Amino acid sequence: MKLLSKLKEIGKFYNNANTYKNIDNNDLSELVYKILEEKEHSCRFNHIENVRKSLLKDNRILNIIDFGAGANHTKAIQRTVKSIAKTALSPKWQCELMSNIIKEFNCENILELGTSLGISTSYLANANRHGIVYSFEGAESISSVAMQTFARLQIKNVKLITGNFDITLPTILENIAQIDFAFIDGNHRYESTVKYFEMILKNSHAKTILVIDDIYWSQGMKQAWNHITNHRQVTASLDFYNFGIIFLDKKYNGNHTVINSKYKIK
Ligand SMILES: C[S@@+](CC[C@H](N)C(=O)[O-])C[C@H]1O[C@@H](n2cnc3c(N)ncnc32)[C@H](O)[C@@H]1O
Repeated sequence: MKLLSKLKEIGKFYNNANTYKNIDNNDLSELVYKILEEKEHSCRFNHIENVRKSLLKDNRILNIIDFGAGANHTKAIQRTVKSIAKTALSPKWQCELMSNIIKEFNCENILELGTSLGISTSYLANANRHGIVYSFEGAESISSVAMQTFARLQIKNVKLITGNFDITLPTILENIAQIDFAFIDGNHRYESTVKYFEMILKNSHAKTILVIDDIYWSQGMKQAWNHITNHRQVTASLDFYNFGIIFLDKKYNGNHTVINSKYKIK
């Protein structure tokens, strides 16, 4: 997207965005405050951020078969670990927010589509060491770096599944209990995102929470977000621009664009 239209889009998001103070559903407003603003002191994540820092300096070259949007699925490409760490990983504040949700709802069965180097996975696993994170990654070379991340952080509650989501996701979903929290962060195509969402929905319950990444990344992702927020089982959504959160619980309602109150005075 051209820079000017991107800036216009961000401006529009900012103008429409509410802080927790303006969300008219009390339960949702309280939740937004808790997960976005009243977070625990963030140095409890220093150990994960230190691994991110070292990945940002890691010059190893990986041969990658990319199953994601716009990629050639048969031909390997080469990328350094540091370039993946720079461009593909969720920022700290988003990882913290997801970790706060897992803590708030005591989520145990956690699913992540798109492990990459294992940074967001480590946040999800760290949020409930008694839970289990089923994390999916297509590229074997990337998976092996993620395994090193978990070993460095002594994270033992991740089950890493390597292979194309289209094949691995249905197989795993057949064999696991209901999902409490899901993070969809890979293969950013309209059809794939909607398909994965609907597959996960079959293993959901009323309190399941889903996070969809990069909801403004392309026209296809905007369409997917629109489709998902209008799904009959979805009761509420929160749009944080970089990502969105979906609720199925009837105590929450409405579609809200949200921003931290420190960025918006009124
Ligand atoms: C944006 S990255 C994930 C970032 C990670 N969640 C984080 O925030 O640290 C997306 C990952 O999904 C993987 N991926 C994309 N499409 C896939 C597919 N169809 N099957 C398996 N893996 C896929 C890519 O290889 C890539 O590593």
